[in-house]
Amino acid sequence: PELAAFVRDLPKTETHLHIEGACPFQLLKQLDPIKHSQPPPFWADDFRYRSFQQFMDLYVQYCSEFYTDAKRFHEAAKIILKNCVDQGCRYVETSFHLPTLLYLSDDGPTIIDAIRSAAPAELELRIFAGMCHNDYKDAGKDLIDSCLTWEGLDGIDLHGPEDLPLEPWTADIWEKARLAGKFTKAHAGEFMGSDFVDRVIDDLKVTRIEHGVRSIENPATVERLVRENIALDVCPISNLKLAVEGIPSMNRHPIRELFDAGVLLTVNSDDPFFFGNSLSEDYYALVQELGFSLPELAKLAANGFQVALLSEESRASYM
Ligand code: ADE
Ligand code: ZN
Repeated sequence: PELAAFVRDLPKTETHLHIEGACPFQLLKQLDPIKHSQPPPFWADDFRYRSFQQFMDLYVQYCSEFYTDAKRFHEAAKIILKNCVDQGCRYVETSFHLPTLLYLSDDGPTIIDAIRSAAPAELELRIFAGMCHNDYKDAGKDLIDSCLTWEGLDGIDLHGPEDLPLEPWTADIWEKARLAGKFTKAHAGEFMGSDFVDRVIDDLKVTRIEHGVRSIENPATVERLVRENIALDVCPISNLKLAVEGIPSMNRHPIRELFDAGVLLTVNSDDPFFFGNSLSEDYYALVQELGFSLPELAKLAANGFQVALLSEESRASYM
């Protein structure tokens, strides 16, 4: 109870949240009360995905059922973002899978408006377009090129299966995005090792890595993260549920070692619908399983505001 109150009252951020992966179950239930009369099986306490592929298959199955137009994104975002605020979040970065737009009747700017207009007034929201390593093909090319001109879009990020080859277009698009005033980040070091973290920093020139926990496999990569002030947006429960290599149980999660090494880390929930977690529970786990102290939790929460895309003035007001 003391821990819960401490975490609740800590001003926090959520800088790694997939909007599709945060689909509110109550909306699925409303949509099809018979099919969704029971909570999804993957909400079971000890549920572990067998593979990233199994997770992705379920992700596509559930997400394509619900996220069909801008109205649905708005409805979901209202619940998701209110939930963030209720847990003490002041700042959220959420990402939507960009190529989904190829199958929707609403265009990108309309989807972005639908998400943004769902944010409670007291929340700072940044919206990212996510894409996979192999999405720059066919109609996806035009979509990726054009999203860089959408005024309401704050940034882009790379996600999906990490073991697909990193194609040359990504470095080019990441550079163009920054020139267009967009922020860039990338998933790395979740299913591939530290070499891929290094590669993404070198090629895509990002200063924010989503996950990045397998950096721990190479001390030189860890040192470099510290030296170059690269932040890792870590999602402890997600890593456990997705059976990330080297993390058989929470008490073995490398976040402890990365923190002690001085890496700039934030705590996030990733895909709460699929992992049955909440941001607060990710914080609890650090205390209960990894010996983090309350001042250390406060440091992690403050790191979120340090990496947040805020003016210096508003950053200072949150920290
Ligand atoms: N998209 C949604 N969740 C993801 C994850 N954990 N890793 C990579 N891509 C994702
Ligand atoms: Zn993610």
